[in-house]
Amino acid sequence: MSLAENATARRVVKIEVDASESSDQSEETMLKIWVDGKFVDEDQATTSVFDHGTLYGDGCFEGIRVYNNRIFKLRSHVNRLFASAKSMRLEIPYTVEEIEGAIREGVRINEITSGYIRPVVTRGPGTLGINPFQCPRACVFIICANIQLYPPEAYETGLKIITCSRPRVNRLALDPAVKSLNYLNNIMGKIECVENGVHEAVMLNAEGIVAECTGDNIFFVKDGKVTTPDLSAGLLAGITRAFAIEICKDLNIPVEEKLFTLDELKDADEIFLTGTAAEIVSATEFDGKPVGDGTPGPVTTQLLNEFRKRTTENAPED
Ligand SMILES: Cc1ncc(COP(=O)(O)O)c(C=O)c1O
Repeated sequence: MSLAENATARRVVKIEVDASESSDQSEETMLKIWVDGKFVDEDQATTSVFDHGTLYGDGCFEGIRVYNNRIFKLRSHVNRLFASAKSMRLEIPYTVEEIEGAIREGVRINEITSGYIRPVVTRGPGTLGINPFQCPRACVFIICANIQLYPPEAYETGLKIITCSRPRVNRLALDPAVKSLNYLNNIMGKIECVENGVHEAVMLNAEGIVAECTGDNIFFVKDGKVTTPDLSAGLLAGITRAFAIEICKDLNIPVEEKLFTLDELKDADEIFLTGTAAEIVSATEFDGKPVGDGTPGPVTTQLLNEFRKRTTENAPED
């Protein structure tokens, strides 16, 4: 199949926005997946059943957006991938530059102009015991796919969110700042969202301090000031979160990182979520009650507009 033909028949990654939506991803596809240094057709892209990524969720990953041929915050994502790997004593058998090169090549070869990239590092094949040092070499693969964006209505009406009944995993046990393949804590939260017909769930840490959502970071606005949980609450240091903070500072919108409880969040004028997939999206209903007047607020709208401006034309790749 030529690249031109391939362009009409590629995997589309659906971003879940409607909790009741099916997760069917049955678009016609034939992607080229980078697996340990080589591009292979997606039906040939496999890992071993003895891979500890599969057996134990032992590994780490990233999610990266491509906007108009620019790979948004590529260096930050690859750095975070290496930081996650280092924290679990997982040696990636490539350099930062090699992984970035493979990602760029994957985007080119799959003709992705706007899309989503998923680099994954697994511990690699080993024995059936959990000892990671019995796995001689990590396995790395990179999926570059098209993306189906949230429908515009999601940004116009905002998302429904709830308080998650289970805490975010304790950072002393398994630091949420590490983007590991071990996502069961988040998945259990996501199940709660789906069962309650909402889009996202706010996860508190074991002390009842707001941490983040199942797949997004959280912010609130009160009296014109923007607040997001301090990293010490135990959350992923989101790259979109950092970008949103940078935008606030550039626009002279007061912004702070601090520890806060659910009571303070419920008193907010506006709530918004950030993430690679979500970008900046308003949450307009929280535990069945409207946030503010129940529509996306002015600060969130201003930040989203600025985010779009900065990613549409010349998205930063640093
Ligand atoms: C648990 C969690 N929090 C926050 C985020 C947002 O992080 P980022 O903006 O880097 O995508 C994600 C998405 O990767 C996530 O999975």
